[in-house]
Amino acid sequence: MDLLGLFPPGTTVDADGTLMVAGCRLDHLAEQFGTPAYIVDERALRERAREFSAELGSRWPNSRVVFASKAFPCTAGYRLMASEGLGVDVAGAGELVMALAGGVPANDIVLHGNAKSDSDLQMAVEAGVGEVVVDNFDDIDRLERLVTGEQGVLVRLIPGIRAQTHEAVATGHDGSKFGLSAADAARAVERLRHSDRLRLDGVHVHVGSQILDAEPLAKAAEAAAALGDFDVYDLGGGLGVRYTYNEHPPSVAEYVGALTEAAKAHLPSAARILIEPGRAMVARCGITLYRVLTVKHGAPTFVAVDGGMADNLEVSLYGQRFEATIADRVGGGAVVDLVGRHCESGDRLIAGVPLDDPKVGDLVAVPVTGAYCMTMANNYNGALRPPVVFCSDGSARAVQRRETYEDLMRRDLP
Ligand SMILES: Cc1ncc(COP(=O)(O)O)c(C=O)c1O
Repeated sequence: MDLLGLFPPGTTVDADGTLMVAGCRLDHLAEQFGTPAYIVDERALRERAREFSAELGSRWPNSRVVFASKAFPCTAGYRLMASEGLGVDVAGAGELVMALAGGVPANDIVLHGNAKSDSDLQMAVEAGVGEVVVDNFDDIDRLERLVTGEQGVLVRLIPGIRAQTHEAVATGHDGSKFGLSAADAARAVERLRHSDRLRLDGVHVHVGSQILDAEPLAKAAEAAAALGDFDVYDLGGGLGVRYTYNEHPPSVAEYVGALTEAAKAHLPSAARILIEPGRAMVARCGITLYRVLTVKHGAPTFVAVDGGMADNLEVSLYGQRFEATIADRVGGGAVVDLVGRHCESGDRLIAGVPLDDPKVGDLVAVPVTGAYCMTMANNYNGALRPPVVFCSDGSARAVQRRETYEDLMRRDLP
């Protein structure tokens, strides 16, 4: 099975059998930064950003890739995306602050949220974000109160598409909590057309996440077109990734090809198209490195590592399947349950994964953890959130340090 194909492109195995990500041996990374640790191949991330921009730009020049930063919100990530010329979408003021700190020009930022507070909107308007995505009529009321100059807005439409994915990350179906029904969206458009402060630039749609078929994503363009002619169509994110061997998502070229074909068929040719990839941008660029703390032989054999549901909630939230390997014995071995150290039976990282003779002290690498893991990390059982380590051409630097016990108590008051 193509285990290495799940790791960042260019991952190799050193002469003694140890995995190397971006030219860095995983044992050296563990020594330097400790475990658990999020390891990111910086060059792979840059190349992925360029791939999205090139594939979209070559098919639809009046376009922009807007990184959905909820998948991986850290200052270094924002800085990287800004340096590659991508826009960034933020879901609230917290991500906005980080994006601005990372040097993303405010005008390249799109603000989302199904429930934005006055302060989310005020901070966004004051910063000068390019677009606020209006999700409900209260957003319009608030913006009308807060905006003194002019603010670009998009109306979020429910495209009425149920794609095959986990219930919790499906957003495009009728009855979704995100966006407005076609009738309500039309009313919002009408209202915004008469606003002297809110400049209606266009429409936004987002079908959901981890979608392994380009067709429903492309179909959303048709739904957006039905709302009318606009300058901007933001077609959202959602492209799925390959977490394990039997998932085969479309390539970026296939995905963007399907979107732009639908755009050619349904959207005004002069329109600007935005896409918002999150998961597909970062997932494969990151891995999580753990150390085995204990092995309990039996049926099943439990291999427990020094992390778990505090650094990877994808398993408990969505039942996401991952793969793993011992860092210096790549692939193969008997099937075990790879579990975390947290006080829940559901804290099982991978049920039934082959690991080659796992022993206490071994390093375990779990690939495809670049998206939605760091961002959902938590302090369950007093866990210290892991560092984020950027690796490139054989050198490594922490761009976010590990939490300390002092951090755990920093907000406590006497
Ligand atoms: C509005 C919006 N855009 C983009 C995304 C990114 O989706 P994905 O990470 O699946 O590409 C999301 C996440 O669900 C979203 O809510």
